[in-house]
Amino acid sequence: MTTSPNAPDLTGKLALVTGSSRGIGKAIAILLAGRGADIVLNYSSDSPPTDVQEAIEKLGRACTTVKADMGKPDQIIQMVEEVKKFAAEMAGVASKHSTGSEAQARPEPRIDILVNNAAIAPPSSPITKLRVADYDRAMDINARGPLILVQALYPYINDGGRIINIGSVSSRLQNPRGDSIYGGSKALLDFFTRAWAAEFASRNITVNAVLPGATSTDMLYEANAQHGTKEELNAMFAKQTPMGRVGDPDDVAQVVAWLSSESARWVTGQHIMASGGLGV
Ligand SMILES: NC(=O)c1ccc[n+]([C@@H]2O[C@H](COP(=O)([O-])OP(=O)(O)OC[C@H]3O[C@@H](n4cnc5c(N)ncnc54)[C@H](OP(=O)(O)O)[C@@H]3O)[C@@H](O)[C@H]2O)c1
Repeated sequence: MTTSPNAPDLTGKLALVTGSSRGIGKAIAILLAGRGADIVLNYSSDSPPTDVQEAIEKLGRACTTVKADMGKPDQIIQMVEEVKKFAAEMAGVASKHSTGSEAQARPEPRIDILVNNAAIAPPSSPITKLRVADYDRAMDINARGPLILVQALYPYINDGGRIINIGSVSSRLQNPRGDSIYGGSKALLDFFTRAWAAEFASRNITVNAVLPGATSTDMLYEANAQHGTKEELNAMFAKQTPMGRVGDPDDVAQVVAWLSSESARWVTGQHIMASGGLGV
């Protein structure tokens, strides 16, 4: 990862990235930390992402990990409590180095950037094979989870803050293999993006979506395992992508870092494809 002299400066910001133990979320967390943000990592599996935490701490940023299943409302609410605790600790550290008036200006624990990245992708399947359980789980994690998280976190997001939803080009593509559940859950997140952009504008909180195309992560290869090996899938998706390759997680993270920055202050309610032209 390189940081150009003109890279957005996120020093002093606090970011929560859901699903940041692997893949695109991990790349986003590390890039935002590289730009100066302190980070709350979220994961749902049994092992905490200590490798990601260590990478962030090596960059000189504070980092904590919170286990919470984005499909479980009670765990999301508990995560918000953990985020508030961490934010209060960070504010305490900052106030030790600031004047009394600056410390008073931050009475509540505050967060600056929320990236709703965690999601699952049930294998694409034709309409006759869809299972209600897959629909419920995907909608719970991919759409209801971000809604509950935003509802609980909203009072603690700083004015001028950022919400970035990681959608998918699947909300726009017609996939002949069948993609009602995953594409549908991402289409709902696209709508939330516009709805929240309008609702939160009075506090200068921008809300945007980044829609990755085929990106080299566990999700891409697991969700499409029935259609080929990793090498075969890379070749298939490269052929479908106008720029001729599968995306790298950092290709997506770069767009999130820009949307998080001061330079993007006038951009809200947008769905930005980071897909090498796939789905355009
Ligand atoms: N890869 C692609 O081609 C592609 C294309 C379009 C859009 N996207 C979107 O990009 C985002 C990241 O995907 P990815 O490809 O990086 O996926 P990934 O490699 O499968 O990683 C998923 C991340 O989400 C976490 N996660 C999964 N279920 C969760 C839950 N119930 N609660 C909390 N965290 C959970 C995982 O944590 P654990 O390690 O704890 O399981 C992991 O950190 C998703 O929104 C996805 O829909 C990806």
